Amino acid sequence: MQDPKTHLDRNETLRTIRDRRSIRTFLDTQVSEADLLTILHAAHQAPSAHNQQSWRFIVLKDKSKSDLAAMVTERSVNFPKPSAALLRMASRSIINAPVVVAVINTGELIERGTELFKMDKEKAHNFFRIMEIQSSAASVQNMLLAATSLGLGTVWLGVLALMQKDVLDFLGAPGGEFMAIIPIGYPAKPGVQPSKHGLDMVVKYL
Ligand SMILES: Cc1cc2nc3c(=O)[nH]c(=O)nc-3n(C[C@H](O)[C@H](O)[C@H](O)COP(=O)(O)O)c2cc1C
Repeated sequence: MQDPKTHLDRNETLRTIRDRRSIRTFLDTQVSEADLLTILHAAHQAPSAHNQQSWRFIVLKDKSKSDLAAMVTERSVNFPKPSAALLRMASRSIINAPVVVAVINTGELIERGTELFKMDKEKAHNFFRIMEIQSSAASVQNMLLAATSLGLGTVWLGVLALMQKDVLDFLGAPGGEFMAIIPIGYPAKPGVQPSKHGLDMVVKYL
C-alpha cells in the first residue's frame, strides 16, 4: 500500500484533513471576526438529514466563556477522578482559547421527522436523533477543518456531555442536545500526531 502521507498530499483539502490536530492550549492572539464567520459558514455548509440544519452554534467570548469554564471546574468535583480530570482539562482549554463555539442540536428534525414518517414514536425518535447527531457531527468536522485551513487550532470537547443539562441550561438551550464545545485559537504549540491504526485494520473490502 502507498504511504498515506502521499495520498493526503494531493491537494489543499486533503492536506488540511491530514494536518488537523486537536489543540488544547492557545496563544493570546485574538481570532478575527472574519475568520470566526468563515468557520461558522463552513460548519453551516455541512450535509444534514432532510436538509433540516437542526444544529445551532453559540459563540462564547470573554465573560460568557470564563463563566462556562468556572461552572465546569466547579461541577467537576461531583465526578469520579478520571472524568473530573478530563473536565478540568476541558475547562482550562475553554479559558485559554480566545473564542469558543458550542454546538447543540435543536430536536427539530426529531419532531418533524417523527410526524413525517408516521411510524412507532420511539423508533422514529431514535432514528431521527441519530440523524441529528450525525448531521451536527458533520458540521463540527467542517468547523475543525475550516479552522485548520486558516492556521487556527481547535479541539472537540465531548466530555462536557457528562454535564449536559448544566451546559444546555448555561447556553440557554434547555430543550436541545449537547454536541460539542470547541475552543478556537492560534496553537500555543504544534499538535502531536496521535498513533493511528493501519488502514488494513479499519477497512474491509467485500
Ligand atoms: C466526539 C469526540 C469527543 C472528544 N472529546 C474530547 C474531550 O472531551 N477532551 C479532549 O481533550 N479531546 C476530545 N476529543 C479529541 C480526541 O481526543 C482527539 O480527536 C483524538 O485523540 C485524536 O487526536 P487528533 O484530533 O489530534 O487527531 C474528542 C474527539 C471527538 C471526535
